[in-house]
Amino acid sequence: METSIKNKIILIIMHYVLIACMPLVCMSATALDVKTRRKIGLTKRDLSEISRFIQSELPQYVERKIYYLSPARTHLARAIEYDPQTKETFVILKGRKCLIGKGKKKKVYLALRYHEKDFEIVARGEQTLPIERELEMTKKAQGMKGLFVTYGMTQHSRGQDTLTAIYSKLYNKGSLKTVLEQHTQLTLYEKARIMAGILRGLESLHNKHIVHLDLGTRNYLIDISPGKKGTRTVRAVVADLGRAKHFDRAKKVCAQGNSLYRAPEVILNLQHMQGRDYCKTDIYAAGCVFYQILFGKFGRWQKKCFMKDLSVPAIQRYHQFVAALNRATGTRRKLLASKGRSGTLDGKEYLEFIILRMLHPDPEKRPTARELRQELGSYPLFQRESGQKRINHTRETACQEMTHAPHVVEPDARDERASGKIV
Ligand SMILES: Nc1ncnc2c1ncn2[C@@H]1O[C@H](COP(=O)(O)OP(=O)(O)O)[C@@H](O)[C@H]1O
Ligand SMILES: [Mg+2]
Repeated sequence: METSIKNKIILIIMHYVLIACMPLVCMSATALDVKTRRKIGLTKRDLSEISRFIQSELPQYVERKIYYLSPARTHLARAIEYDPQTKETFVILKGRKCLIGKGKKKKVYLALRYHEKDFEIVARGEQTLPIERELEMTKKAQGMKGLFVTYGMTQHSRGQDTLTAIYSKLYNKGSLKTVLEQHTQLTLYEKARIMAGILRGLESLHNKHIVHLDLGTRNYLIDISPGKKGTRTVRAVVADLGRAKHFDRAKKVCAQGNSLYRAPEVILNLQHMQGRDYCKTDIYAAGCVFYQILFGKFGRWQKKCFMKDLSVPAIQRYHQFVAALNRATGTRRKLLASKGRSGTLDGKEYLEFIILRMLHPDPEKRPTARELRQELGSYPLFQRESGQKRINHTRETACQEMTHAPHVVEPDARDERASGKIV
């Protein structure tokens, strides 16, 4: 009898302790940590005021189709924005500490996304130039595998200008350009993961008949989870659809913003290029970037003069470009093809062979994003954990892949080197 009373009392005490602790548990689960709050210059009190406003007052503004609320209007510490299409609410952050990137058009800042009564740090790319097409393409790309994740798009006027913002998931390492410039150490496996992520993105776009047309290192975003090299998760996505076009509209447009990533055929064929032709220039551009990832440097053939030196006739520039590309990649591609046939490619060579085929001077010989992604998907490093085991396994599977791959039959490299001709 006595024990049952004791048990009851213990249960009642536990019940009240739980109720008393609940707000604390919720608070700690929902609050941004001190370091982040300091970085973005907001106190706990600021945040709870913003949170209260979003829950209780914002709906009335939204009903009146007022989607941008300045601090002057709300007396809150920061401006609030609402996207009626995605029904997402954001808090705008400004200041040097919150600036995370600058592109050709956008300035990208940290921002807050109000989600399930909590604040999540996201990225906010804003610009004043008109970007209707980019918004349209970004909306189309929402939810596509391998593309950056977006939460909303907003517009409001500031003086004479219209300020457009794209809110997206925050990728903690920023662009691939930053990762490469900072000489971030990556294992071969992690490099392959980055390539696979990018190819996934390209495959998604090309499947939907969209070409990206601006695939330099600034336009891929990278996320690396905490942890040691080899045990952490490395992800890459394709971003910035500012130049992207649907096949219908991709006619005679200059492929790739940065001329270093422009394929040779662009010099001669631009007037006749359309739709699917640009998938091939996308693949070439991604190949140049993969080369940088694998070897940590630009390819020797990547020179601006081939595209820009208009004092030299186009036909001459084209042949010079193809000859330089063949010199740097032709012999090696042939060697790797034959190693593939005899089953002696190691892990790095496996990746290199994929890359060199993306860089083929003949666009028709470049595999599609889908073919490349599938080939890379069976890259044995993806299936093994220990480094040594990975390489051994790579050799075996790579050999099988290469024996069956249709792309391994290569022309004589001597012919390729001898002239700027594509053979
Ligand atoms: N979601 C994001 N997470 C982290 N960094 C980002 C994000 N979006 C953009 N950035 C950074 O901002 C830069 C510019 O963004 P981008 O969309 O490419 O602008 P632009 O259209 O002007 O080229 C990127 O190169 C990258 O460094
Ligand atoms: Mg960009």
